[in-house]
Amino acid sequence: ESAVRKRGGSRNLPYLKAKARQIPLLYTYTVNEDIERKHPMYSEKVMDHFQHPRNVGEIENASGVGTVGNAKCGDIMRIYLDIDDNGIIRDCKFKTFGCGAAVATSSMATEMVKGKSIQEALEVTNKAVMEALDGLPPVKVHCSLLAEEAIHAALWDYAQKNGITIEGLQKPKSDIHEGEEDEAEEY
Ligand code: FES
Repeated sequence: ESAVRKRGGSRNLPYLKAKARQIPLLYTYTVNEDIERKHPMYSEKVMDHFQHPRNVGEIENASGVGTVGNAKCGDIMRIYLDIDDNGIIRDCKFKTFGCGAAVATSSMATEMVKGKSIQEALEVTNKAVMEALDGLPPVKVHCSLLAEEAIHAALWDYAQKNGITIEGLQKPKSDIHEGEEDEAEEY
């Protein structure tokens, strides 16, 4: 009888070994789930700005308007700037055909540039906006570029309209008014 049990035991051995090997996997899975629960994909600030976006809309007779497209996903962002005679951004609004991360970053970016000088507004990079939002998941970083690029495009438009040069401002690459054909060729 004991021989039978032994045989049965050894027959089950590969199964048991396989099960034992799964234990670390099961453990890892549980730990990952726990991390996910404690650190959800989006920060509270991102969720707040996504659900209650600030500065959505248009500015009539804006000093500068910038419209850019995100080549990765095809989403679009437009930013309106109202700049006074002293070069201070009095108001800033946005409209987007973009994802939640694009909405949240644009909402935060518009809040950050309001009341700033043009030079200060150039420092509102996508990195600065992401930091202000307590981060974004890596796959969503490209979405945060829309706001930065649209602000630059709006500043470029302002500079063009007023015949001035803004130090440190490059012609926006993804301005879809200008680069539509190039973009279409690339993708
Ligand atoms: Fe397009 Fe985020 S996926 S802007």
